[in-house]
Amino acid sequence: MNNMRLHQTLNNEKRKQESVDILNQMLTDFLALALVTKQAHWNIRGLNFIAVHEMLDSFHEKLLDYADTVAERAVQLGGTALGTAEIITLNVSFEAYPGDIYSIEKHLKELQIRYAQVANTVREVIQEEKADPDTIDILTAASEDLDKFLWFIEAHENREK
Ligand SMILES: [Fe+2]
Repeated sequence: MNNMRLHQTLNNEKRKQESVDILNQMLTDFLALALVTKQAHWNIRGLNFIAVHEMLDSFHEKLLDYADTVAERAVQLGGTALGTAEIITLNVSFEAYPGDIYSIEKHLKELQIRYAQVANTVREVIQEEKADPDTIDILTAASEDLDKFLWFIEAHENREK
C-alpha cells in the first residue's frame, strides 16, 4: 500500500508490514465512514429526524475511536499512520457519497451499503487471519460494533422479514 519503511522496534511480531498495511486501510475506511456519517447527520430530513440524527452521531464517535486505535497500533508496529484527507481520498474502499440527497430513507440506504462493505472487509481480515493476533483482536471489537451499527441502520427499513 505504501513504500514507507518501518521504524525499528523491539516488538518481535513477525507480520508487521502486512498488519500495518491493513491497519492503514482500516484507518482510511473508518475515517471515511465517519465523514459520510456526519454528512447524513447534518443533512437528513424527515420523520424521526432527531432519533436518526443522534444515532448517527453515536456511530461517528465510535468510528473515530476505532480510527485512533488502528492508527496507534500501526505506529506501535513501527509503521506510519496515514490519515490525511489526500490519502483517504486516494485509498477509500467505497464509492463517493452523494451530496444531493436529503430523505432519511435515502441516506440510510447509502450508509447501509458503505457500512456493510467496511464490516465485511473487516470480517474477511479476521476470518482469513490477514494480520497479527493483536490487530485481529482490535478488528474483532470493531467488527462487533460495525455489525451493530448496520443492524441499527437496517432496522429502520419497514419490512416483515
Ligand atoms: Fe451535530
